[in-house]
Amino acid sequence: SRTIRLAVIPGDGIGEEVVAEGLKVLQAVGPKVETTTYDLGAKRYHATGETLPDSVLAELRGYDAILLGAVGDPSVPPGVLERDLLLKLRFELDHYVNLRPVKLFPGVSTPLGGVRPEDIDMIVVREGTEGPYAGAGGVMRRGTPHEIATQESYNTAYGVERVVRYAFEKARARSRKKLTLVHKTNVLTYAGDLWARTVERLAAEYPDVTTDYCHVDAASMFFVTQPQRFDVIVTDNLFGDILTDIGAAVAGGIGLAASGNVNPDRTAPSMFEPVHGSAPDIAGQGKADPTATILSVAMLLDHLGLTEAAAKVEQAVADDLLERGGSWTARNTRQIGDDIAARVAG
Ligand code: NAD
Ligand code: IPM
Ligand code: MN
Repeated sequence: SRTIRLAVIPGDGIGEEVVAEGLKVLQAVGPKVETTTYDLGAKRYHATGETLPDSVLAELRGYDAILLGAVGDPSVPPGVLERDLLLKLRFELDHYVNLRPVKLFPGVSTPLGGVRPEDIDMIVVREGTEGPYAGAGGVMRRGTPHEIATQESYNTAYGVERVVRYAFEKARARSRKKLTLVHKTNVLTYAGDLWARTVERLAAEYPDVTTDYCHVDAASMFFVTQPQRFDVIVTDNLFGDILTDIGAAVAGGIGLAASGNVNPDRTAPSMFEPVHGSAPDIAGQGKADPTATILSVAMLLDHLGLTEAAAKVEQAVADDLLERGGSWTARNTRQIGDDIAARVAG
């Protein structure tokens, strides 16, 4: 079989620690992989002032996929690495689908009372290239009492339609076939109207899919009180960011939440990463849970059509989670990686 050409961006903080374990599991599951590591992140920024040089971006386009740990460091002003590295990758590689499963694995403890794994099994299709993340806005009279800061949300008919269509396809492929639009149409009337009309229009093409709408504030509540309401969710970039941290919390913690920045048209490589950040508070201590990254590797394999390998990794994680009994802290980052790698190899 062919060799996967993988670009690896460990990034900052716990990024390096969790990516090492993700790669360990990837090697153990068997496909031929050729990895190239890129030292993008805080260290390179301090050393050279570079975040994502054009030459590196051009090189990255040539890979089958990208595995990223996390970026962001307290020594770098907020937004520099987040915008000029991570978001630049998502925008330039046209990752218009930010796929974030929210799934409670058997045996995993959740802060919610009385829920079973089948009650938390959804997939959030977060828009990845537009919304408030587009970066439009500005400031007037900065530093004065009359400062005005604007931050605009960009929503294009093209951008909304393609992500909504993707979400309908996802919903159609699942057993419940339910799609919920999450927005704030009661206040964000221009953008909300575009999203709502788009869902309504496409719904005619997907008569087998049930559609539903929920304001983002209510959706945040229902994530905690009635997660079984949701199957596939489609939402704006910022709402999706916030909702998926809530989703991570209810499904066992941020250390378990995986994601894929997907370019469904395959005009550029997709990028897989844990939902969490660089966690400066625990970096370098071997305390980070690498499971989110390992599950992101499963999503990567699935995206490349290696469905058996993907299922093997997911099963190994499920088995490991069942045995943890909610007390993963008994093992360090490397030990969890070793144990899951041993399961996929054995
Ligand atoms: P964070 O996700 O890094 O950390 C939030 C909390 O969760 C911390 O207490 C942390 O210790 C804990 N945590 C995170 N991952 C964990 C893991 N794998 N195992 C155990 N505990 C874990 O979010 P933050 O503190 O808001 O952000 C820190 C930095 O990361 C910032 O610079 C932010 O911009 C950046 N960030 C990057 C990404 C990304 O690269 N995709 C995502 C989120 C935040
Ligand atoms: C995430 C992160 C990023 C986002 C930041 C670091 C730009 O929070 O991947 O969820 O907001 O998308
Ligand atoms: Mn986030």
